[in-house]
Amino acid sequence: MRHDGNGLVSYKIPEAGDDRALRAMARRAFAETFGHLYDPGPFGAFLDGAYGPGGTMARDLGDPAVRWLVAFRAAAPVGYAKLTPLRAPALAPAPGAVELQQIYVLAEWHGRGVAARLMAWALATAAADGAPEIYLTVFDHNERAKRFYRRYGFAEAGRCTFTLGDRTDDDRIWRRDLEGPASGG
Ligand SMILES: CC(C)(COP(=O)(O)OP(=O)(O)OC[C@H]1O[C@@H](n2cnc3c(N)ncnc32)[C@H](O)[C@@H]1OP(=O)(O)O)[C@@H](O)C(=O)NCCC(=O)NCCS
Repeated sequence: MRHDGNGLVSYKIPEAGDDRALRAMARRAFAETFGHLYDPGPFGAFLDGAYGPGGTMARDLGDPAVRWLVAFRAAAPVGYAKLTPLRAPALAPAPGAVELQQIYVLAEWHGRGVAARLMAWALATAAADGAPEIYLTVFDHNERAKRFYRRYGFAEAGRCTFTLGDRTDDDRIWRRDLEGPASGG
């Protein structure tokens, strides 16, 4: 386990026993970011499928091809990053490209360096694997996330959509090269 500069937050790879708390935190972070966009019914169903027992996140936590780093305040997760093989529909990805599929931090920890530590881990881990480039997708109106990603040299490289219930939104695919040291932060 590693600690950040002020010692409030520690970072570790999640263990099996962290599954439940991590899914609950992820559900809360997603809901506080995007809940205002959707009707409660379909939104709740989506949250159950993504973060419920046996859902997408639980499956990915058991997948050795998916890597995680979780930020904890005491025993409680407050943020996480998830690195996967490329899943986004990128147009001409280089072999071995990876994806920062999620980086989520609870609102009270925004702007406090937690996301920066998670991003540094993702870039360093991907580069250490020899990945030539890293992708992510971002909701086009998520201005805070886009500004954060831009700081690390990501730029738009394509489009995709995200559908929840009967609403389909424009997402953007962003990428950056991984040659050279991680920057930003
Ligand atoms: C995206 C996220 C990981 C970034 O972490 P963070 O700690 O908030 O990031 P930082 O505060 O270091 O950087 C945010 C940047 O956006 C800016 N910003 C803050 N609020 C903003 C707003 N409403 N509109 C535009 N920019 C904004 C900040 O000034 C900062 O830019 P700067 O460094 O150039 O000044 C975090 O906000 C988060 O988890 N959000 C909710 C989940 C989410 O959206 N995840 C990404 C999904 S693609």
